Amino acid sequence: MSELIGLYPSWYVPQIGSAWVMGIIGTIHVLASNTSVGAAVLFALLETRAVRDNKPEIMQYIRKYGMFLLVFSYIWGSVTGPGIWYSITVASPRGVSALIHNFVWAWASEWVFFTVEVIGVYALVYTIGKIDPRTHLKITWTFAVSSVATMVIIVGILSFMMWPGSDRWYLTGSVFDAFFNLNFAAQLAERMFLMLTSAAVVGSIIVAAIPRGNPMRREVGRTTAFLGLIGLVGGALAFMWYVATLPPNALVILSDRLPHWFGQTDFRITTFVPLAATSVIVGAYLLWVYLRPATVTVPLAAAMTVILLIAGIWPEERTRETMRKPWVAGQYVYSNQIIGRDVPGLDIQNQVPLIAKDGLLKTAAFVPADLRIVTPANRLQAGRLLAVMACSNCHSLDRDGALRPLPRLLQGTTDVAMIQGFLAGPLAHGTVPYMPKIALPADEQLALASFLAAVNAGTVDAEGRLIARTSAATHVAARQHSPIAKD
Ligand code: HEC
Repeated sequence: MSELIGLYPSWYVPQIGSAWVMGIIGTIHVLASNTSVGAAVLFALLETRAVRDNKPEIMQYIRKYGMFLLVFSYIWGSVTGPGIWYSITVASPRGVSALIHNFVWAWASEWVFFTVEVIGVYALVYTIGKIDPRTHLKITWTFAVSSVATMVIIVGILSFMMWPGSDRWYLTGSVFDAFFNLNFAAQLAERMFLMLTSAAVVGSIIVAAIPRGNPMRREVGRTTAFLGLIGLVGGALAFMWYVATLPPNALVILSDRLPHWFGQTDFRITTFVPLAATSVIVGAYLLWVYLRPATVTVPLAAAMTVILLIAGIWPEERTRETMRKPWVAGQYVYSNQIIGRDVPGLDIQNQVPLIAKDGLLKTAAFVPADLRIVTPANRLQAGRLLAVMACSNCHSLDRDGALRPLPRLLQGTTDVAMIQGFLAGPLAHGTVPYMPKIALPADEQLALASFLAAVNAGTVDAEGRLIARTSAATHVAARQHSPIAKD
């Protein structure tokens, strides 16, 4: 029996992959949480003016927006926040474990700030007009400061996921080296700016709900839109800085994602293109709210929020996740959960050599006993398990799957030897910058290649079920391998 590595069972989601499940939940969460933090800053600024210039009517807007946040951000945020934890824990248990081991106290502090934030938003909404304005202003600033603090801590963790940025952390394993990584300040700047934009777009719904004749509509509409525009311009500048702090693999993926008609233009400009259109639309909208606050309507503002979610936050978060490939955390845990580099500071060892020597089926803890050794009879089933464990975190196994479907990337080839050549070549040598180094022994390569070829040939589906309607020849071939699932 070879040495076991503590890989958890894989969570396989047909078609969209576990990555999209996390992505969809995460995107909604980002809208809810960024809007809340941005709105907290907006409230603090507006209320400071309300108190200074004695304009209590501004408080009505804050109360309305605060109530909206309670229903919108805090309900959706509270549903999707634990949703992120649940989904990442099953989709990427090793990644989560890595982050918890590094950041347990950072997260504990974040929860303290978060608790203050939640109490703060309730206190803020329900005490307006009931307590003295200066005391209320203190509550609002406490809410704003604790909201920003949660953002700062989360960005430290998120940016470490991208990479520590130097060799130092690998040697020290120190939480401070992890937290204050190269990508941290740039990502923080970008998120701080863009959260103002989120808060402004969502806030325009409340502006639109203020009766037309009310002068407050103009007053708060302009401030809200102005802050959102600052966020957009600042966010664009911070994005340039952010790109300059990315690891080499991320830059390869960024430049790879360029539309071909852009030729060899500098990636800093071209990666901006997919999101630029959204930025222009949102920018034009906010400018319009700024200039003509009287004309904004609730359906339009709500539609802009949906556009921001689907055409802004979703592609932005997806790009960030994609750029991080092949790693899920700190450039030492691969997305497929295998540890791909030594971290002497934490006594963590690279597991790729062990897998290359003994194979994944023999070393992963949760493998059915009858699949540990590849035989002609279990080859397809073993191959499917290998695909689920080694590839499905980043690739759909379905032909028309949404997440980089393997059959399409393999160009539908049914040539087992050719697929095995890919597994034995670039993949085993780790020469593809966006894919993990996956070195498997020859028998496992053959099993994986046979399964992928069989999916391409249409003789089995991604679940590993034999497909009945096959030509006589492939049917016989499949039968010789024995049916890999009996339904
Ligand atoms: C960490 C994520 C990740 C894992 C795990 C992963 N891949 Fe990939 N793979 C990618 C990305 C990203 C691409 C680029 C896809 C694109 O161009 O849209 C890719 C592309 C490919 C391609 C197309 C050729 C190329 O070089 O672009 C093949 C074939 C492929 N992967 C096979 C596999 C196989 C087989 C496995 C499992 C043994 C696997 N991949 C595991 C991320 C991954």
